[in-house]
Amino acid sequence: PNNIEIGASILSADFCYIGEAVEEAISSNIDFIHVDIMDGKFVESITWGPQTIADIKKNFNVVTDVHLMVEKPEQVLEQYLNAYPDRVSIHPESTYFSRKLLHQIKNSGAEAGIAMKLETPIESVINLLDIVDFVLLLSSEEGFGGNSYSEAIMTSKICKIMNLKKSLNYKLKIQLDGGIKGHNLGVLYEQGVNRFVLGSALYNNDPFKMNYEKIINVL
Ligand code: DX5
Ligand code: ZN
Repeated sequence: PNNIEIGASILSADFCYIGEAVEEAISSNIDFIHVDIMDGKFVESITWGPQTIADIKKNFNVVTDVHLMVEKPEQVLEQYLNAYPDRVSIHPESTYFSRKLLHQIKNSGAEAGIAMKLETPIESVINLLDIVDFVLLLSSEEGFGGNSYSEAIMTSKICKIMNLKKSLNYKLKIQLDGGIKGHNLGVLYEQGVNRFVLGSALYNNDPFKMNYEKIINVL
């Protein structure tokens, strides 16, 4: 189907070969590259910084989706926007300034998203839905690749966000991140989710291309 987007999360790639990981994804015609920025505070892990985004943009022609999993994103957002990412999502759990930051993202020309941890209720972001382009729902425990999809929490969350999308903001894209595999992707797509981030499902076990083809064949 053409209204579905699949992105590769390089968190599951070998950090010594990030360029190769991006290249592999592009040569499989991936729709976007998802880059988790983790500061060791908002989540346990530490990953990359703004230079990583700048270098991906410099070396590749690919949609770059930056997932800012950092405390006080207001202190670093500008640096990331200077690297010209195509999409940036921030967590409302990490800042008092969500609305202002989302405007800042939009003013830079990037798509602005609100990202939510598994335990964060949909209700807490309702007042931001008028300004965001997409909502990123973490669908597994945050911080690492390879965690399993949380069916128990996600079923009602997806239902709620779909209803809000219908009543408030038709254009809103719903993006799932965490535990997405070939076996749950199809069902979630049928529920109305249009963007998926996949890490371990694409980078682990078999070569990327093989993993990717297996996954899109079930759609
Ligand atoms: C988790 C990250 C995800 C992660 C998903 O906190 O935000 O982007 O890479 O990895 P998988 O697809 O392996 O669950
Ligand atoms: Zn992510």
